[in-house]
Amino acid sequence: MTKYNKFQSVVYQIYPRSFNDSNGDGIGDINGIIEKLDYLEKLGVDYIWSTPFFISPQNDNGYDVADYYSIDPLFGSMSDVETLIKEANKRNIKIMFDMVFNHTSTAHEWFLKALAGDKEYQEYYFFKDKDEIANWQSKFGGSAFEYVDHLDQYYLHLFDVTQADLNWENPAVFNELTHIIEFWLDKGVHGFRFDVINLVSKPDVFLDDDHGDGRRFYTDGPKIHEHLKRLNQQSFGKHENILTVGEMSSTSLEDGVLYASEERHELSMIFNFHHLKVDYKDNQKWNVQAFDFQMLKDTWIDWQLAMQEHQAYSAVFYNNHDQPRVNSRFGDDINYPFESATVFTTAIHMMRGMPYIYQGEEIGLPNAYFSSLEDYRDVESINMYHILMKQHQDHNKVINILQAHSRDNARTPIPWDNHQKNYGFTNGQPWIDFSKHPKLKSVQEDQNSKQSIFKYYQKLIAYRKSYPIISEGHINFIDIDHSELFVFERTYNNQTLLVITNHYGKDVPYTINPHGTILLSNVNRTSIKKELTLQPYEALVLLYED
Ligand code: GLC
Ligand code: CA
Repeated sequence: MTKYNKFQSVVYQIYPRSFNDSNGDGIGDINGIIEKLDYLEKLGVDYIWSTPFFISPQNDNGYDVADYYSIDPLFGSMSDVETLIKEANKRNIKIMFDMVFNHTSTAHEWFLKALAGDKEYQEYYFFKDKDEIANWQSKFGGSAFEYVDHLDQYYLHLFDVTQADLNWENPAVFNELTHIIEFWLDKGVHGFRFDVINLVSKPDVFLDDDHGDGRRFYTDGPKIHEHLKRLNQQSFGKHENILTVGEMSSTSLEDGVLYASEERHELSMIFNFHHLKVDYKDNQKWNVQAFDFQMLKDTWIDWQLAMQEHQAYSAVFYNNHDQPRVNSRFGDDINYPFESATVFTTAIHMMRGMPYIYQGEEIGLPNAYFSSLEDYRDVESINMYHILMKQHQDHNKVINILQAHSRDNARTPIPWDNHQKNYGFTNGQPWIDFSKHPKLKSVQEDQNSKQSIFKYYQKLIAYRKSYPIISEGHINFIDIDHSELFVFERTYNNQTLLVITNHYGKDVPYTINPHGTILLSNVNRTSIKKELTLQPYEALVLLYED
């Protein structure tokens, strides 16, 4: 069975095209990752999860896979990947791959055969007659069904029209997928992140959705737990020490707990995104509102407590390649760049679950601050721009929405060194521009600064390994209705850890028990007293022993 220290480990997520370019084509690559392994070892992370670098037309930056067994030359070669695994392992870092099993690219051989009329391969996907399709919407805009003229049928694509959904009810598909996992396990991969894995079980009949976009019919679908259990039994579960994390799109708390519950043998842990919808007005991503702090806290609390109760485990995070950066999103990256880059993270690393760090957050990389449509590269952002404009919205208003919620906010390249051309990211023309934040800082500047965000992260990671109360303590939330503070405690044997985080840019009074020691402070606090004044975006972690 899966045995690894899931409590003490930290994962670092790499979005390869924006990480480090080794050959000057403007696109980060696998050799670029290898060049930075010492940097990641220094940070102290245990796993690297890289988003997909398989052969792909790159319509969704690699989430449209055309061959799961080959590396896209854009990123390197099979031998580069083998070197990456070997060199990472030498530094005690394990590699996790990103498996996109809900859909393939329409350039995948299976889909091409299906299009050519091969019935066997049509069964790999959902090809339907006109009277069998429904009014479901693609998550990237427009209908989820695409008409194929010469077949006079439609195929299902929950995402881009070039991402065709796979039919998991077909045992041949299931076999193909387990082979892919086995292939990469043989190569020395130690974990998998499964892309939108809770969408893979579709209903037998597709019904119109009168109240929504259709998601309620396939999210946590009818056979989802059965599928995951089987995948576990027939592939990664047969090996020791394999870490799995499922990306769960709009999952329910009830199902979330089941996916990640230890005794059920589905997945090691899951990502859910409910805490990142608190700035969606009316639950609509393309409708922005100031973040709802109470909702943010309530979401964390509900999930943390339910997971704890069921001995299930969460991946805890604020940032990834699909999300605006939290320091810009919920913090103030202009006036309090250091505090904003550390306060939310402190909460993440002190909660119950495995922290995931997304590239750049360890230096407080902010949002993209793009102000023109030409700066955007993301298929979803560009589609949505045109859809929103058609709804007679104003150009500037739509640009503001993209500035707040576009995925490209997270996809700008890492500025490694401000003394080098293109910050040392590439010798060529970067595929997407650097963040246009007025005070953008490089890795090199951060490391030389008195207040290094990187060094703060090093501490967070190191403490997890030396304090069992952080990795394994019981969690309990306090003052849950406080209007500015998110406060919780962990307990373990005779110890208590008190975590206080100020989510606002103002001073906040708070009364504490002063008989503890300061474990962490992001404002260089050196002493405490009963009546405290928390500074803007302050994070304070206190340890009590009795
Ligand atoms: C996941 C990925 C995202 C991708 C989508 C479709 O949400 O994280 O980047 O576009 O799945 O594969
Ligand atoms: Ca390159």
